[in-house]
Amino acid sequence: MTASPETIFVLTGAGVSAESGLGTFRDRGGIWARFDPMRLATPEAYAADPDTVLDFYDHRRRGVVAAAPNAAHAALARAEARLAERGGRLFLCTQNVDDLHERAGSQAVTHMHGELLKARCTACGTVTPWRADLSRAESCPACATVGRMRPDVVWFGEMPMHLDAIDAALAAADLFVAVGTSGAIYPAAGYVRQARALGIPTCEINLEPPDNADAFDDARYGPASTALPRFLAELGL
Ligand code: APR
Repeated sequence: MTASPETIFVLTGAGVSAESGLGTFRDRGGIWARFDPMRLATPEAYAADPDTVLDFYDHRRRGVVAAAPNAAHAALARAEARLAERGGRLFLCTQNVDDLHERAGSQAVTHMHGELLKARCTACGTVTPWRADLSRAESCPACATVGRMRPDVVWFGEMPMHLDAIDAALAAADLFVAVGTSGAIYPAAGYVRQARALGIPTCEINLEPPDNADAFDDARYGPASTALPRFLAELGL
């Protein structure tokens, strides 16, 4: 492991918010074990039954608003600041749609699967911060169209966001760290191999070995709230 890396690419998944009480997707009893993603997290589902889809995201949005960041989020915010002080950069790419990284103090967060606390108008494309429930009765603050607002999250079958910026940051990194992700969903699950192909050392922080564990050079297993701060301390962050 690079003793003091200057540019760290960190990819987070649902496991980093698990200890804040937000559900993961593929653990036992996870969100996709209780709800059918094909009925709730696709453009087709939204077109066919918008009220059911909006209701599902209302429930999750309320959970995000009620949650608080945990020590893993705080450790990443501290590491970002400390790395910047010494002229380095921490590029935080998250698959999560919650705002816990921001609430913990991270200044630059790239949400490749969008953000649940934003709503997008499918008539004009305007994205608006949105913390309340979102129903078809709502109108777009920009174009006033009624009934065309959706959560600004990436659904199955849709293109993830900020892919060019993510690829550029990955190419510039001298360490790749994945935290709390099962390595089940691409393109995020492929970033570790992309890093390896570039000769970048890789480490995963997880509760247990995920699907792509064999792709990592190193690993620290345990809850993110203790394993991640401990790992970052090894790097002097
Ligand atoms: N600390 C660290 N890791 C944890 C913890 C914890 N307290 N709890 C669970 N984990 C790990 C699990 O072992 C698992 O490897 O977090 C991972 C969660 O995996 P998923 O539930 O699949 O979540 P994620 O990898 O983020 O899913 C990726 O799939 O459905 C889509 O859009 C959704 O962004 C999500 C994407």
